[in-house]
Amino acid sequence: MVRKRARTKAGGGTPAHGRLRAALGATTTALLTVTALAALPQTTAHAADTLGAAAAEKGRYFGAAVAANRLGEAPYVETLDREFNSVTAENEMKWDALEPRRGTFLFSRADQIFDHARSRGMDVRGHTLVWHSQLPSWVSGLGTTELRSAMNNHITQVMTHYKGEIHSWDVVNEAFQDGGSGARRNSPFQSKLGNGFIEEAFRTARAADPAAKLCYNDYNTDGVNAKSNAVYDMVKDFTSRGVPIDCVGFQSHFNSNSPVPSDYRANLQRFADLGVDVQITELDIEGSGQAQATDYGNVVRACLAVTRCTGITVWGIPDKYSWRPSGTPLLFDNDYAKKPAYDAVLGALGGTTDPDDPDDPGTPGAGCTATYTTAEQWGSGYNGRVTITAGSSPITGWSVDVTMTSPQKVLSVWNGSPTWDSGGNVMTVRPSWNGSLAAGASTGFGFTVSGGASPPPQVGACTAS
Ligand code: XIL
Repeated sequence: MVRKRARTKAGGGTPAHGRLRAALGATTTALLTVTALAALPQTTAHAADTLGAAAAEKGRYFGAAVAANRLGEAPYVETLDREFNSVTAENEMKWDALEPRRGTFLFSRADQIFDHARSRGMDVRGHTLVWHSQLPSWVSGLGTTELRSAMNNHITQVMTHYKGEIHSWDVVNEAFQDGGSGARRNSPFQSKLGNGFIEEAFRTARAADPAAKLCYNDYNTDGVNAKSNAVYDMVKDFTSRGVPIDCVGFQSHFNSNSPVPSDYRANLQRFADLGVDVQITELDIEGSGQAQATDYGNVVRACLAVTRCTGITVWGIPDKYSWRPSGTPLLFDNDYAKKPAYDAVLGALGGTTDPDDPDDPGTPGAGCTATYTTAEQWGSGYNGRVTITAGSSPITGWSVDVTMTSPQKVLSVWNGSPTWDSGGNVMTVRPSWNGSLAAGASTGFGFTVSGGASPPPQVGACTAS
């Protein structure tokens, strides 16, 4: 197993331009009259052009679930190494893979993923120590005393093997029931050890590897509902009693039956307000085209709006290897081409595709760039300006998503035509009339925002047509 000193965490610092904006915001809010400011460039011509690099500029990681048996496939590995800076083993660190027989630990396949990631400086999320599924039958057959000892031994052995090298561990996965009951899910752990098994698992985990962030991970907890309320109450109880817990993972498997909830950001925020990190741990969204892209962009923007949302992991790389392949829920198609969802994620992260990159032809965002400046700022608002510049080819139209942070509201838009998402905080701006631009030529639009002089809006990638 390759060991590597923990790399400088992406989440470590405020980017220099962020601090500058914060400082200027504080000064100018004190002024009662409108004050013209020197333009503050917030996206540059050198914006990051991969998911990992763009996320790192926002102080986050961007990860993927990886399967050991795909690591021999060149385009899979190229895409992984180029785009992602965090990795989760899709199955290889689960109990049935690591301890198929009591006391026999098999780490080689998990280590393949771990070594690949750590030797390239990527973070590793550990998934998962205590879960009712992918659990070998010998565990379910144990009596209470033996089960307690097997659970604690499993946690200790696995965490010790990777001690100091795992960024976050999903200590307990999916311990709550679906539906409105808010009850614990029935499992060997629940039925034999009772409610206390979760607390016991977290305490054992802290002792085994004090450097790892300890997470509770679940699905259908992405919005405010009975299940997420039950998890919330548990986390609140843990933090108030000093039970070690550092983060909550939101799996975020979405489809038409389980769409991205409108209160996703608010739900992440209420957990963060308990004093834990939140992470989006298994993101995939069934669908295609612009609708899927919009959903992905909204998820990323929700995470960015929550300071303690420290990173996002998508649950696979190309659609064909997704656990739900018919739903084409991922960011890359079967040939590893970037889907519109990819561009939406990169744009939401503040990155941009390179218009001159021959490997990246014709993707939305490739034909133009969007550059944001705050033109004027006053106590309770500001004027923003977005400059649109065509790439090396002429374009006939463009669009850009601009996201405001509540309670900010856009009062007016000039030289551009906005449409609003249902939540009312994302406007998609297109040309008011003729959107044609010659190669390299620029145009722009402006808007007035009330409801706070900061933070500035998030401006996505420019999409050319
Ligand atoms: C899934 C894997 O993607 C599949 O390959 C496997 O057959 C079943 O498990 N919640 C979790 C993940 O926490 O571990 C699951 O992963 C998806 C749902």
